[in-house]
Amino acid sequence: MSLPTRRSWAEPFKIKMVEPVRMTSREDRERAIRQAGYNTFLLRSADVYIDLLTDSGTSAMSDRQWAGMMLGDEAYAGSANFFHLEEAILRYYGYKYIIPTHQGRGAEHLISKILIRPGHVIPGNMYFTTTRLHQELAGGRFVDVIIREAHDPASTHPFKGNFDLEKLEDLIRKVGEKNIPYVSLATSVNMAGGQPISMANLRGLRELTAKYGIRIIHDATRVAENAYFIQQREPGYASRSTASIIHEICSYTDGATMSAKKDALVNIGGFLALNEPELFEEARNLVVVYEGLHTYGGLAGRDMEAMAIGIAESVEDDHIRARVGQVQYLGEKMMSYDVPIVVPIGGHGVFVDAKRFLPHLTQTVYPAQALAAAVYLDSGVRTMERGIVSAGRDKETGCDHTPELELVRFTVPRRVYTQAHMDVVAESAAFVYAQRDKIRGLRMTYEPRYLRFFQARFEEL
Ligand code: F0G
Repeated sequence: MSLPTRRSWAEPFKIKMVEPVRMTSREDRERAIRQAGYNTFLLRSADVYIDLLTDSGTSAMSDRQWAGMMLGDEAYAGSANFFHLEEAILRYYGYKYIIPTHQGRGAEHLISKILIRPGHVIPGNMYFTTTRLHQELAGGRFVDVIIREAHDPASTHPFKGNFDLEKLEDLIRKVGEKNIPYVSLATSVNMAGGQPISMANLRGLRELTAKYGIRIIHDATRVAENAYFIQQREPGYASRSTASIIHEICSYTDGATMSAKKDALVNIGGFLALNEPELFEEARNLVVVYEGLHTYGGLAGRDMEAMAIGIAESVEDDHIRARVGQVQYLGEKMMSYDVPIVVPIGGHGVFVDAKRFLPHLTQTVYPAQALAAAVYLDSGVRTMERGIVSAGRDKETGCDHTPELELVRFTVPRRVYTQAHMDVVAESAAFVYAQRDKIRGLRMTYEPRYLRFFQARFEEL
């Protein structure tokens, strides 16, 4: 008898309620994807077998979170759940003032309106779709100052979310610090493939911005996953808890927008967090116009309770190790089948490189969009385009942005699927890869004005 070559980890939970999923026939899926205009966002979830569209709002809540839902204090003003949420945010992230919002983009809307004036420039470590749109709608212009390696799917840089601090300083000198209301910092950079920023780079960013008196506003949506990568990869952090690393990250920033639908393990909710009383007052003024009173911001009391509990669960080392571990498992499996993916494997999903997958298709025929449709057709696995469709058009010229990254995101919801599901997904990617020559490009037949990837329609060429 021989011993196993490794000791496996397992999820730090067991399952007490299940939701049946249904496999469809190839004919069903052909009809469904055609009706959806080859856009996976327009599929009905009943036609999906394994849903890796997003990790947003798709997590399984714990028994403690569900118990918390029963403690909802549905008062219009001053709900007890708001105060629990405020305590959790102060304790785990360290921000002083909070405004709940219905989800992340609600917070992005508020902070953009408060701080951005026409002509302003907002530098950041790669754009995110909703974040950049709110900055633009407020009159600003986003400028990408992430390191070059982030745009290269094959670069194995361990911290591809890092800022190019020289590029940032050049930009500050060129446009003047008065025209930069804040630097937009994302932890676990979504569009780069779920790539982390290092603590050393963040400290450098804090020093540089302090020199010019510029704020850092932190998109904390996936801060726990970033903290886990720091613990695993950055010298000096191996024995630190994820919780303490999260606290340190937030301490270098002046405020945060949060989509609690990701790391914080809830199906709906978000917040804006600030340390400056003057900005907080502005936000309290605006939130009543767009979201709701400042003690609920568009959420039910029960949602805030679930969020407070979810935040505490999200920083636990056992949880985050299993969460990221499952994503790594899927990515390694795909690599073992030679499927070209972004490396290092990210925190919230595996990003397939559509340019290398489909070298016969030019970016003008939407290879990642076509690939997401092909994966759905093969197995009923739903994924999402993160390439030229998601990038949209340039605010000034109206021309398509042409991002270097043309990716399909296989996003893993938290605590929802098993290792067997991951095997099915990786095998589907492998089978589609074997048939890649047959995949044709697409033509866009309908383009919405904002965030076109959500609702655009296509047909096969
Ligand atoms: N910031 C990041 C980094 C995000 O990934 C998202 C949402 C938001 C902000 C906006 O938050 O959806 O709660 O309004 N990302 C989802 C995704 C939609 O699938 O990646 P929201």
